[in-house]
Amino acid sequence: MKTIRVNAKGAKRLREFFPWVYKSDILTPLDFEPGELVEARDEQGKLLAKGYINPHSTIAFRALSYKDEPITKRLLKSKILRAAAKRVKVDTNACRIIHSEADFLPGLVVDRYDDYLSVHFQTAGIVRFKEDIIALLQDIFEPKGIYVKGDRYLPQKEKVPSFEEIIGQIPPKVVIQEQGIKFYVDILHAQKTGFFLDQRKNRQIVTNYIKPKARVLDCFSNTGGFGLYARVKKQANVRLVDISQEAIEMAKKNFALNEVSGEFVVANVFDYLRELRKQKERFDMIILDPPSFAKSKAKKSTALKGFKDISVNAMKLLNKEGMIALFSCSHHIGIEDLRKVLIEAAKDTAKMVEVVEHMYQDIDHPYILNNEFSLYLTGLLCKVEDL
Ligand SMILES: C[S@@+](CC[C@H](N)C(=O)[O-])C[C@H]1O[C@@H](n2cnc3c(N)ncnc32)[C@H](O)[C@@H]1O
Repeated sequence: MKTIRVNAKGAKRLREFFPWVYKSDILTPLDFEPGELVEARDEQGKLLAKGYINPHSTIAFRALSYKDEPITKRLLKSKILRAAAKRVKVDTNACRIIHSEADFLPGLVVDRYDDYLSVHFQTAGIVRFKEDIIALLQDIFEPKGIYVKGDRYLPQKEKVPSFEEIIGQIPPKVVIQEQGIKFYVDILHAQKTGFFLDQRKNRQIVTNYIKPKARVLDCFSNTGGFGLYARVKKQANVRLVDISQEAIEMAKKNFALNEVSGEFVVANVFDYLRELRKQKERFDMIILDPPSFAKSKAKKSTALKGFKDISVNAMKLLNKEGMIALFSCSHHIGIEDLRKVLIEAAKDTAKMVEVVEHMYQDIDHPYILNNEFSLYLTGLLCKVEDL
């Protein structure tokens, strides 16, 4: 196996079990094929980790092991089994089984939807293990079908081709259940791997605060996760808004599947909230779960403006003692940022805001303290009052 030398800064981070080495911390010339297996050693030659390298990526090295052990199919199997064992507490037929670095398999995402798996390969390094990983997933989980996808950014970011493959059969719609609520998942065409599993716990937390028959506005609803919980569990009057026609069509089907009614709007939330203000509409709970506006640090300040805009408009649309749930699904905008956004929005609208819940990604998306990037979904649930 080839070796890379890592500077003191990169070595310290690897010793603290951070899983990456940035290009700028590698001393060796980056004369490697995308995804080649390498050993990372410090300047004194001491082994730090084994993993894969990609000279085209800013995150050049990703660790697969911090021990002096061979990187084999057997090692992959033990990682998959360990990840699966962690999920036994997730009481549903849909769950993330492998969450990339947070399950020590960088670049690999595996979601289970009932009897089917959706498997996404996000780096050149993990693509090299594709055949072994698929064989192991087949042996361990015995799925009826596997959807295998090479991330669409692979050619651009990692300089390897993207791909798509179906093993066995994937039906057009799979039914999953959360807390007795049913959702259709279109594994082949939906956003992400099919469903926003990471919000499962937060859907329940938010629903706990919804009063029976309340008016709920589920913004950035996708296929209706939050809204459907509110409708089924609290008989709330729910309106869903999403910019994606496909997501709203699926949301309608999900409401029908659970034999409940709702209102569905295809719109840009930024414009729609302004429209609702003109119409003087009012709601008791507004959920704001936007996409990742800040995929990188550089986009943070623009993203924060967007967060503030929707927060101010949402606060102005609330009934007395109304509530707002604001989420960020980007590591670059964390709970402290959300807090600041809401403080600014409270000032602009002259409201008193009380935080009642801090929310994070559900446990099948592990948060490893040694890797700050593994915490990526945060949210605040607040009561908003006029004094
Ligand atoms: C993080 S997902 C929401 C997940 C959803 N809350 C759930 O529980 O399944 C973000 C959603 O925002 C939608 N979206 C992106 N930009 C939008 C915009 N400007 N206005 C409305 N929806 C938007 C996307 O189509 C996507 O469905």
